[in-house]
Amino acid sequence: MSERTQVAIIGAGPAGLLLGQLLHRHGIDAVILEARSRDYVEARIRAGLLEQGTIETLREAGVGERMDAEGIVHGGIYLCFDHALHHIPMRELTNGRTMMIYGQTEVVKDLVAARLEAGLPLLFECEDVALDGLEHDEPLVRYRHEGAEHELRCEIVGGCDGFHGICRPTIPADALSVWGREYPYGWLGILADVAPSTDELIYAYSDRGFALHSMRSHTRSRLYVQVDPDDDIANWSDDRIWSELHQRLASDGWELREGEVLDKGITPMRSFVAAPMRYRSLMLAGDAAHIVPPTGAKGLNLAVADVTVLADALVAHFASGSDTGLDEYSDRCLTRVWRAEHFSWFMTTMLHLDPQDDAFGRELQRSQLRYVTRSTAASTSLAENYVGLPLEQTAPPAVTR
Ligand code: FAD
Ligand code: DHB
Repeated sequence: MSERTQVAIIGAGPAGLLLGQLLHRHGIDAVILEARSRDYVEARIRAGLLEQGTIETLREAGVGERMDAEGIVHGGIYLCFDHALHHIPMRELTNGRTMMIYGQTEVVKDLVAARLEAGLPLLFECEDVALDGLEHDEPLVRYRHEGAEHELRCEIVGGCDGFHGICRPTIPADALSVWGREYPYGWLGILADVAPSTDELIYAYSDRGFALHSMRSHTRSRLYVQVDPDDDIANWSDDRIWSELHQRLASDGWELREGEVLDKGITPMRSFVAAPMRYRSLMLAGDAAHIVPPTGAKGLNLAVADVTVLADALVAHFASGSDTGLDEYSDRCLTRVWRAEHFSWFMTTMLHLDPQDDAFGRELQRSQLRYVTRSTAASTSLAENYVGLPLEQTAPPAVTR
């Protein structure tokens, strides 16, 4: 079967779904092709913290209603070390900017519902998705769906298929530069049926390794512990996980509440950037182009920032034939991406125990933790990165003489 659209979007994660929604608001046709089932995509527990810019984008895209009703606004975080909680008042340090706890599962559900309610094409369980014709600027997407072979012609391909997708590997190796780092630790994450034991997130540094207390709602907690990236989840009984959490999050006068563990899994951690984020009519966005370790809560927020820039560029392309936005897309995104890469690396290396590191390294970490909690300059720097820098502030500086 042969079909046509203006933009073929590969992947129905936050990047692909939001790109489809933003294009729809400007009357641009798109087809979204997703390899997994709707249930799988909607249940995949990942990020939970939205930056203010992300919140505003979701509102402007018309999918902010449930987020505003159910999301939990946060104005700061705690760093826990030396058995004490140290508050970083981000709202005060950043002229009133805040974050919101609203799970990626919920963002995805809202975007899927909006698309299906509008009767727009979103195909789950597509098999063997492949790109062709990029060299001749006549992109063609082949895929199989419900047993039938399809060919989708388009002007632009949105490569939103995550780190393990097919879009980035389609680009000839000599047209792409990549940078990356793998870390000697992973995160074991649990979702627990218990009210959060804290009003704001706790990032903990301890002699046993990193831990994070986050949440999903007023009745559900999300918690993480640093583990070996090759560890098997079968080695971690619920009792063992809670015991580690108690020890790593321990601080004077504070207590962790336990609850039934509803979900658990181990994620490896890596940094990765591919550039440029464009190859002819293929535009990469989100995890397809870059990965950050999760400690700075940047992955989902970067994906949203990419597609916001991309949607503007596509609106100009289709409305007036101007390709300036598409030409500038990669550079505009990458300056912000590298800022987030640095911040995520900084938070990760400040808070995790590197098994190769020595006592000197640990003292440096402790010194840095004391500095970012006691110096207004250092805590302001951490805060403005955490709440999310506006796009303009991550752009290259103007040349001055
Ligand atoms: P994805 O969400 O990966 O979406 C890509 C989509 O493309 C998927 O639905 C996939 O099924 C689909 N796809 C893949 N291949 C194909 C194909 N060939 N054809 C069609 N479709 C395809 N970030 C945080 O900020 N905090 C966290 O705690 C956090 N935890 C994470 C835990 C895990 C296990 C992972 C993997 C990521 C985590 N992240 C976290 C990062 C964050 O979730 C991602 O940055 C975010 O999902 C990026 O969105 P995306 O749409 O670019 O990619
Ligand atoms: C969550 C994940 C993060 O990586 C983070 O830095 C903060 C919160 C979360 O899943 O809630």
